[in-house]
Amino acid sequence: MASPSTSLLFVILLFSLITLHQQSTSPAAAAAAQPLSPAAQEYLGAHNEARAAVGVGPLRWSEGLANLSSRLVRYQRNKMSCNFANLTNSKYGGNQLWAGGAAKTPRMAVEKWVEEKQFYNHADNTCAPNHQCGVYTQVVWRNSSELGCAQATCVKENTSLTICLYNPPGNYIGESPY
Ligand SMILES: *[C@@H]1O[C@H](CO)[C@@H](O)[C@H](O)[C@H]1NC(C)=O
Ligand SMILES: *[C@@H]1O[C@H](CO)[C@@H](O)[C@H](O)[C@H]1NC(C)=O
Ligand SMILES: *[C@@H]1O[C@H](CO)[C@@H](O)[C@H](O)[C@H]1NC(C)=O
Ligand SMILES: *[C@@H]1O[C@H](CO)[C@@H](O)[C@H](O)[C@H]1NC(C)=O
Repeated sequence: MASPSTSLLFVILLFSLITLHQQSTSPAAAAAAQPLSPAAQEYLGAHNEARAAVGVGPLRWSEGLANLSSRLVRYQRNKMSCNFANLTNSKYGGNQLWAGGAAKTPRMAVEKWVEEKQFYNHADNTCAPNHQCGVYTQVVWRNSSELGCAQATCVKENTSLTICLYNPPGNYIGESPY
């Protein structure tokens, strides 16, 4: 996993979790009681547009995943210099974006992941060399049904870290997203 360089401005780094463990049952409840915050609507809308573009059904917002994302980004901000979280042992899928130079809206963050679509070849489920299609394939992973995201701004370095978590996780090696 690359460590973000804090000496560069306007750098965008992407990271996606590759799921190594077996698919497990997901007990996370999908209660949509509260109206969604504007940020949640933006994260969700940007994901669901990218999914609809390839004929994949929408995700739901999960307050539990949003809370977990929020705890993760705050921990990374406070203790880890805003570096990417280590989600290796997470039971959820994870996309991360580290951005320098300016704050990123939720939509801008998701669109950075979706930009990797151009390097993804769905016909044979491959990615062009030196690209991170995993962030895109997690966005459009058909079996993922719930989403929660959060962003932290790292004032000192003027950078931000965005994390989205997905349940059930995507990016199973050798499986196509849709
Ligand atoms: C998420 O966090 C909010 C605010 O701390 C809390 O009220 C809510 O119960 C939490 N929801 C879940 C599902 O963890
Ligand atoms: C992430 O955590 C896993 C499991 O704890 C560990 O094996 C791995 O070395 C860690 N990766 C990094 C980049 O710290
Ligand atoms: C931090 O980024 C903002 C834009 O989001 C910019 O206006 C400001 O000048 C930057 N500050 C530093 C110290 O680079
Ligand atoms: C989706 O889930 C079904 C049922 O659990 C499984 O058979 C299938 O391989 C999964 N597909 C993907 C792309 O993960």
